[in-house]
Amino acid sequence: MSAPLPVSDLADPSIAELIAARPHLSLHAQDGLVLEDVPLNAVADALGTPCWVYGAGTMRKRLAELQAALAGLDAQVHYAVKANDHLAVLRVFARGGAGADVVSEGEMLRALEAGIAPGHIVFSGVGKTAAEIRAALEAGIAQINVESPAELEMISAIAATLGRTAHVALRINPDVDAGTHAKITTGRAEDKFGIAHGDAAALYAHAASLPGVRPVGLALHIGSQITAMAPYRAAFARAAELIRALRARGLAVSRMDCGGGLGIGYRDEPAASPAAFAGAVRAVFGDMGLELMVEPGRWLVGPTGVLLASVVLVKGRFVVLDAAMNDLVRPAMYDAYHAIVPLSAAAAQLPATPVDIVGPICESGDTFARGRALPPLAAGARVAILDAGAYGAVMSSTYNARPAAPIALVDGSRWAVIRARQTHRALWGNETVPEFVE
Ligand code: LLP
Repeated sequence: MSAPLPVSDLADPSIAELIAARPHLSLHAQDGLVLEDVPLNAVADALGTPCWVYGAGTMRKRLAELQAALAGLDAQVHYAVKANDHLAVLRVFARGGAGADVVSEGEMLRALEAGIAPGHIVFSGVGKTAAEIRAALEAGIAQINVESPAELEMISAIAATLGRTAHVALRINPDVDAGTHAKITTGRAEDKFGIAHGDAAALYAHAASLPGVRPVGLALHIGSQITAMAPYRAAFARAAELIRALRARGLAVSRMDCGGGLGIGYRDEPAASPAAFAGAVRAVFGDMGLELMVEPGRWLVGPTGVLLASVVLVKGRFVVLDAAMNDLVRPAMYDAYHAIVPLSAAAAQLPATPVDIVGPICESGDTFARGRALPPLAAGARVAILDAGAYGAVMSSTYNARPAAPIALVDGSRWAVIRARQTHRALWGNETVPEFVE
């Protein structure tokens, strides 16, 4: 006897509801699902599946919406490169006036390669190596966010040998629970990130006395996929209190990096509102004479991308796709919900029944959705896994020797391939077999 089919507690949003909540998507009788003005079937015909498709026009709109919300503040958006580091994506944001928040030398080099000026790059991260710090100082980036006393000493020593002064912000850990998934919360005392709030003032004063660094301000980032504003307000208030205390001691504080973390609506939950976020920033820091920075990733790119897949076969309640957890790991890693929509308008009209949408990889965790209400999907049918623009392709692996999927970028009615499908040969191209195993 087969196990009972798990059914979601709440009714899944209908396909019409999912599309209505995403203005960059539309469903057309002939063309099926369209991203901006490009039918996704046309991209899948050309590239095969699985493949990623991103919308540049949607990225631009979202960046502009965030910038408009911040208007009137001395605020700069630093796009968190980790969310989607493709050069074309970085170029879109660079042209839109964004800087970059990077967490590795690789991300810094990508940002520079995409044309983001060093003066618009901030380097964050809990374990920057000496080589990365040196590279950042040589590139002359705007700021390094320091996460520990040991790192501060390292930066000072390296900068002094290079004859440079590093502009640093101390990333404080405000001990605020952002109420998000345990694997992506970063602002609680027990998380590895930042400098304990209570230690920050003394460390800032110490930084001011070091030869190679100049402390310019504070930074914080409390977590990711945050939709409530209360944790931000609490964290900002703690930072503001610290800035006042530092200034009272005669220390200069000119910058505040407010972090990222703005959440999006993956299912039917309300997304974070840029206006509400900007309101929280304004309410706390607006009149403190600070240069402000924000560093969102997911909110800017998440909704703009889809992962296209085809049904390989149907086996009872399981719909097996040609995309897998190696392509999009979020459901397996965080039990994340990603909406799934058929590309065909006709299919979308049919009555939905609960199915499990899985990949072909040899692990039960290779499951995109359980008990998801979807219309019948036959072998060969195509689906789009939505909201895959952030933490999608960047987190892919080649597990099961599955080559990295290609990527297309749509811009209005134009589209181009921005990454070819990796060849099988490329999978082992940098491997060698030593003689002693012959
Ligand atoms: N700034 C710092 C210092 C960060 O650590 C992060 C994300 C961001 C900015 C951007 O956060 P966002 O605005 O994108 O939420 N892989 C996970 C998300 C990990 C986020 C890590 N840090 C996921 O797929 O949900």
